[in-house]
Amino acid sequence: MRIAVAGGTGLTGTHVVEIARRRGHEAIPLSRHGGVDLVSGAGLPQALVGADTIIDVSNVNSMKTDVSVSFFAGATRNMLSSGQRAGVTHHIALTIVGADAVSEGYYAGKLSQERAIEASAVPWTILRSTQFHEFAALMYEIARAGPLHAAPRARIQPIAVREVAEHLVTLAESGPGGRVSELAGPREESLAAMVRAYARAIGHRGWMPEVSLPGALGRAQRNGALLPAPGATLGTQTFAEWLDALPDR
Ligand SMILES: NC(=O)c1ccc[n+]([C@@H]2O[C@H](COP(=O)([O-])OP(=O)(O)OC[C@H]3O[C@@H](n4cnc5c(N)ncnc54)[C@H](OP(=O)(O)O)[C@@H]3O)[C@@H](O)[C@H]2O)c1
Repeated sequence: MRIAVAGGTGLTGTHVVEIARRRGHEAIPLSRHGGVDLVSGAGLPQALVGADTIIDVSNVNSMKTDVSVSFFAGATRNMLSSGQRAGVTHHIALTIVGADAVSEGYYAGKLSQERAIEASAVPWTILRSTQFHEFAALMYEIARAGPLHAAPRARIQPIAVREVAEHLVTLAESGPGGRVSELAGPREESLAAMVRAYARAIGHRGWMPEVSLPGALGRAQRNGALLPAPGATLGTQTFAEWLDALPDR
């Protein structure tokens, strides 16, 4: 199968490309670095020639509603229309558990992505996953004021990105499935404890106060709205195992 991997050079996309190739597929990474802009559409029709399937793991790192909606809705519509013209028969998108639980910021973009796909004539699969274990590292970097790093309160059920990528390639092999069961890690964790454990693992020795993140996202994170629904498919690698496997620093 010829699979175009939108965002194929990113955290998830690198694994998807490697796994798809290992399973005998032709995987074509799409990224600006490789000459394809999903938002303007530049280079997209050429990159999709001969593709059967698109796996979309592209991303914009913004908490601003307008930036997130404009990226995810715009890139998705471009992929769907260029894909339809190129004969793509399966569009797969990775979105996020709780995409409809928070109506602003990054999550608004993920919901606009899902709606664009549902309205499309191209057969599709939408997979929602929980945050990756790497979310602890991201929070360590973001939740800080100068040298003081904070530990944000949240209930999450993090998963290994490698397991998400394996699942996406299996979904490509299975054909269009609509909304498939959510994917989450093996158990619920405290984000504050994860961020502190990550900080210790990379040699941070300072005091880290526990904080509540503001706004609708902070509330949803604390009250469990971003946890998977019953019946979710569960991965196997725990956060502690991911931490143990980090390269020595
Ligand atoms: N991280 C999590 O915890 C988590 C949890 C659940 C779901 N997800 C979803 O997983 C997906 C992948 O996230 P990630 O963290 O793996 O992404 P990432 O590491 O930030 O990678 C983003 C990819 O998108 C490409 N890209 C960005 N803008 C582009 C544009 N205009 N045109 C073409 N390519 C563009 C980037 O390449 P260039 O910069 O070269 O263009 C890169 O390959 C996202 O949709 C996210 O919502 C993430």
